[in-house]
Amino acid sequence: MQRVSISVTDAPAVQAGVALLVLPWFEGEAQPAGAAAEVDARMGGAIRAVVGRGDFTGRNDDVAVLYPREGEVQAERVLLVGLGPRQQFDAERLRRAAGVAVRQAQRLGAPGLGVVLPVGTGLDAARLAQAAAEGVVLAAWEFRELRTRPREGGPRGDVSSLLLIADGGLDRAALERGARVGEIAARAENLARELAARPSNLATPTYLAGVAEELGHAHGLSVTVLDRAAIEAEGMGGLLAVARGTQEEPRFIILEYSRGGEGVAPLVLVGKGVTFDSGGISLKPAQNMEDMKYDMSGAAAVLGALSAIAELELPVNAVGLIPSSENLPSGTALKPGDVIRTHLGKTVEVVNTDAEGRLLLADALSYARRYRPAAVVDAATLTGACAIALGHHAIGLMGNDDALVASIREAGERTGERCWQLPLWDEYRPQLDSEVADLKNTGGRPAGTITAGLFLKEFASDYPWAHLDIAGTAYRDEVPPYLRKGPTGVPTRLLVEWVRTRAGVA
Ligand code: BES
Ligand code: MN
Ligand code: ZN
Repeated sequence: MQRVSISVTDAPAVQAGVALLVLPWFEGEAQPAGAAAEVDARMGGAIRAVVGRGDFTGRNDDVAVLYPREGEVQAERVLLVGLGPRQQFDAERLRRAAGVAVRQAQRLGAPGLGVVLPVGTGLDAARLAQAAAEGVVLAAWEFRELRTRPREGGPRGDVSSLLLIADGGLDRAALERGARVGEIAARAENLARELAARPSNLATPTYLAGVAEELGHAHGLSVTVLDRAAIEAEGMGGLLAVARGTQEEPRFIILEYSRGGEGVAPLVLVGKGVTFDSGGISLKPAQNMEDMKYDMSGAAAVLGALSAIAELELPVNAVGLIPSSENLPSGTALKPGDVIRTHLGKTVEVVNTDAEGRLLLADALSYARRYRPAAVVDAATLTGACAIALGHHAIGLMGNDDALVASIREAGERTGERCWQLPLWDEYRPQLDSEVADLKNTGGRPAGTITAGLFLKEFASDYPWAHLDIAGTAYRDEVPPYLRKGPTGVPTRLLVEWVRTRAGVA
């Protein structure tokens, strides 16, 4: 994984000593101010010239590269990056600008970035540093491990360092705190992207369990892995049903982090870990089926989030639960019409073997009861219908507790991993009624995301629960400048932010 080392300086921007000095710029502001004014003065009015001629307007994602002469400024290049209008500024604008700066640095072969942070905005120093660090660390990531030669048109060089410049009166200690949070959260998200990017012949349930154990050693999490026999002993009929069609062994992965004090109710994060979803006997069409290697994106986000929570040493108790299997057809596979008995004891008529995620999540949600959790949040690439309803810009958010749902939505706004709530009204529930069992596993075409949520709700009894349907957001073709086409790592940063809020540190 590409590493970016981050540091903070009090020194003036003109002394940064970097390959690329980045000056963010609000749209329509004609005169350079603060650090930019000093750079402009040293460079004989070069910034005013570019802006005055209208070659650079400061619109969102707009750029201009300037070349200081010997002795003017201690930087090989100066980059102006547009932030858009000052009134619309938020963390996401800065994340984007940081991403744009990384793309320019990669194009130019500039390994070291120095970023001047905008002052006089609504964001405090810690949030500014966090957003800039996130934008840079996320943008620097690329999945390369399976190539034997570099991609055509790839970067001229990688960005390996980021210097956050406190010029303009920002509090250095706050910048350092924010940078650390941003770096850890973004690295966790990159871990999630990397796990999701690995194809299903490599990233099997057994492999994910191994990753969980490694993360446990690295960060002081206690990790327990249930193999098939233990899953059987637990009575996890949903997970076992999905695992019937494949030669690949299922795993139920448990990660426990405890810094919240003895007896304090934990926050439980549940991630769907289907390492490949062919649909099973209800086979999917061939078109884009390769994307179903991403069907463990929820699991990847939970692994990333738990590592970040541990690295940040948040004062909470937290648990990650990952039910993991492949979903394949075979002579032993689950068949439409089969009735299974779940961990909770409820029976399910499986009318479509492609609605497999809810079967294994049902068992995990039921297993979560033993922790007497303060809240449970699950993340799952659960329904294609979610991408139809909300496209690729919003996570589908549902739950049984309004305050919990609101807190998740707010964490989503702050991280740019935005959520939109869908109703779990009782009126939809008859769509899941079965002739032969307690419920069936699909509710037909109308409101497919909601009926999937209602299915899960049957198993999330006894605690506040929220469900994130990430089918439209876990991987994307069109992305903001700090990401790349492919897995996004969503909702890793959202989960970290939400837990930070619950821990009282955000
Ligand atoms: N993993 C899929 C959902 C999915 C589809 C995620 C497309 C990302 C992109 C899930 O297991 C699934 O197949 N859901 C079915 C449910 C249906 C059978 C009720 C779906 O969406 O078609
Ligand atoms: Mn499926
Ligand atoms: Zn699936």
